[in-house]
Amino acid sequence: MRICCIGAGYVGGPTMTVIARKCPDIRVDVVDINAERIAAWNSDSLPVFEPGLEEIVRLCRGKNLFFSTDVDAAIDAADIVFISVNTPTKTYGYGAGSASDLRFVESCARKIAEVSRSGKIVVEKSTLPVRTADVIRQILSSTGMEFQVLSNPEFLAEGTAVRDLESPDRVLIGGDEDTEEGRSAIDELAGIYARWVPEDRIIKTNLWSSELSKLTANAFLAQRISSINSISALCEATGADVEQVARAVGSDTRIGSKFLNSSVGYGGSCFQKDLLNLIYLCEHFNLPEVALYWRGVVEINAYQKRRFAEGVIDSLYRNICGKRLAIFGFAFKEDTNDTRESPAIDICRLFLNERAQLAVFDPKVSKKQILADLNVEEGDPRVEFCASPYEAAEKAHAIVLLTQWKEFKNLDYKKIKSAMATPAWIFDGRNCLDHRLLGELGFLLRGIGKGNLS
Ligand code: UDX
Ligand code: UDX
Repeated sequence: MRICCIGAGYVGGPTMTVIARKCPDIRVDVVDINAERIAAWNSDSLPVFEPGLEEIVRLCRGKNLFFSTDVDAAIDAADIVFISVNTPTKTYGYGAGSASDLRFVESCARKIAEVSRSGKIVVEKSTLPVRTADVIRQILSSTGMEFQVLSNPEFLAEGTAVRDLESPDRVLIGGDEDTEEGRSAIDELAGIYARWVPEDRIIKTNLWSSELSKLTANAFLAQRISSINSISALCEATGADVEQVARAVGSDTRIGSKFLNSSVGYGGSCFQKDLLNLIYLCEHFNLPEVALYWRGVVEINAYQKRRFAEGVIDSLYRNICGKRLAIFGFAFKEDTNDTRESPAIDICRLFLNERAQLAVFDPKVSKKQILADLNVEEGDPRVEFCASPYEAAEKAHAIVLLTQWKEFKNLDYKKIKSAMATPAWIFDGRNCLDHRLLGELGFLLRGIGKGNLS
């Protein structure tokens, strides 16, 4: 059997690597139109940082895992083609700022129709609006060959991709349950996952349920973060501590304790895009009340980022002009080099508007990426890219922690404090530092949702 995956990104790359590892008898070709990205997958410095990924790529690459730009040949030779290209929020025309831009998915479907000399199973791996499979099906039907379209959304979280892929909570496969051919395509894909995923974790549904489940799962996860973040504002106003509230609330097994960490806001390529898409769909199907409900989740996230940045500015006597701020972490979460929709981007831009000097340190994000995200030229004195947190904190008025990289917990804060301006502030946007210890060292502190700290 041969598998082809179009799109060698954060989803396609790791997912196919794990499939190749688990199924040595299957040849997996990961193709992409971006030659630079493919070259990186074929090098020692992979384009995606994920703990544990490099080791598996090294074991499989060149054996049954191949990265290439020869999209046509890989599609034609495959029995199963995964579509894992990006589906950004549309920036133009109808649905701009809300709907998903499906042009890459459509062009993949057209490409499959054009180069295939035999029917195949086509799998939507990208997160897509409900009923996208119809579009793909229609395009493929013009070939006269037998294609089956499946939806198999990916639930991996960045930073834990390998673990999530090796031991997923569930694998979801949607297909045409009404026909023999549809059911057998679902079973064929299920058979691949069943080699390492227990059967009771493989959920089979119709196409539309599968497509909608992915949007809904991300909306629910984002909603939990906006819920706790909304309460963090109330905690700060009342003297309650959001971590204590989250622990008390989350120990109700009906609610559960995960995903209740108050923060500077959620980031990442999925939550914002998928919520906007869900809202767009609700409006499209004339369900304005439902759209408004989910719109609140998006608005609280924007509010939280703004609220945090304003808290920093307020604490620094409403004047950060010319002040050095050490930015600890720029990725949207720990253990990834990804900055898409990172709260750090909006927060740093607000600081730059106030004419602060930013000294940024992130263990994995490149200088080029940070400058691009902040829309700042190389050499601009307003943004300094630092090689260590110690360098960033030197002469800084404040440390602004935006990503919960583990290494920030165990720094020599005594040494850091002595190198900083006085008073030395720490704004812990992830509540991940030891506030009691830092208070003892003489830092002024502000966490998220901790009304009793000053
Ligand atoms: C993407 C989507 O953002 C997400 O909705 C979906 O769930 C999975 O796919 P990700 O892998 O993180 O997630 O995207 P990205 O890292 O941008 O990778 C997409 C890749 O597809 C890029 O490398 C791009 O060059 C490639 N691509 C895009 C093609 O090969 N062909 C195209 O026509 C368009
Ligand atoms: C998410 C989903 O978890 C995953 O299932 C889906 O396939 C893609 O989208 P990802 O965006 O990679 O994954 O990371 P996730 O761990 O969900 O974090 C998203 C954002 O929420 C990050 O910015 C993170 O810091 C933030 N977050 C997470 C919080 O602010 N508080 C929490 O309690 C958890």
